[in-house]
Amino acid sequence: MQVTLKIFRYNPEKDSAPHYETYTLEAEPTDRVLDLLEKVKSYHDGTLAFRRSCAHGVCGSDAMRINGVNRLACKVLVKDLGTTNITIEPLLGLKVVKDLIVDMEPFFENYRKVLPYFINDEPPPPDGRERLQTPEERERFDDTTKCILCGVCTTSCPTFWADGQYFGPAAIVNAHRFIFDSRDRGAQQRLEILAQDSGVFRCRTAFSCTEACPREIQITKAIAEVKRAILTGRLD
Ligand code: SF4
Ligand code: F3S
Ligand code: FES
Repeated sequence: MQVTLKIFRYNPEKDSAPHYETYTLEAEPTDRVLDLLEKVKSYHDGTLAFRRSCAHGVCGSDAMRINGVNRLACKVLVKDLGTTNITIEPLLGLKVVKDLIVDMEPFFENYRKVLPYFINDEPPPPDGRERLQTPEERERFDDTTKCILCGVCTTSCPTFWADGQYFGPAAIVNAHRFIFDSRDRGAQQRLEILAQDSGVFRCRTAFSCTEACPREIQITKAIAEVKRAILTGRLD
């Protein structure tokens, strides 16, 4: 089959404004959008810039807008798009570095602000044993351990686009993963950070984050749980 790719192009070092370029390719229905980008880069225009690494939906580096929806290019098959006209653009809300590559630093800056790591200064159990928890305690934060930091959720969020002040759903998901871990002792610190102006109460429950997440994480639910923990002071 033939597909037509319309790709956003912009090199801030050379171009005065962004533009689109169109490429017509032979493709298999089972090709992934990432395969098509690789074909363009290998056979049509080696200057096309995009990120990729694992090609299997694990690293989170090839998030982009495909026909208007934030997706991982390696997880979208041509046959699933329902059209042979495919428009590919960079994520919204972050500065374009080149073509489909955006500057992820503001995203990671927000991530770092919520202390996304294990905090517990108490001495570990003796004899090299682990800090134990029950299966139920582990289950409490299981969903949010699945995040691959692709940025799809945060760059789908209208509140994040609107003011750039909001930490965004990905940061909250990663705070949730530690706040509700029974072994961690940093919950209070994180909840204070997330109760600030740029924190969870900026979320207007738009749900776009949850709809877009390639890991199917229940993001809006996680945000609601963090809001409730702040308002009630309880972690159950
Ligand atoms: Fe990506 Fe989902 Fe993590 Fe958001 S929560 S960064 S969409 S994996
Ligand atoms: Fe944004 Fe998701 Fe809330 S899209 S407004 S973070 S529910
Ligand atoms: Fe790693 Fe797509 S290339 S998630």
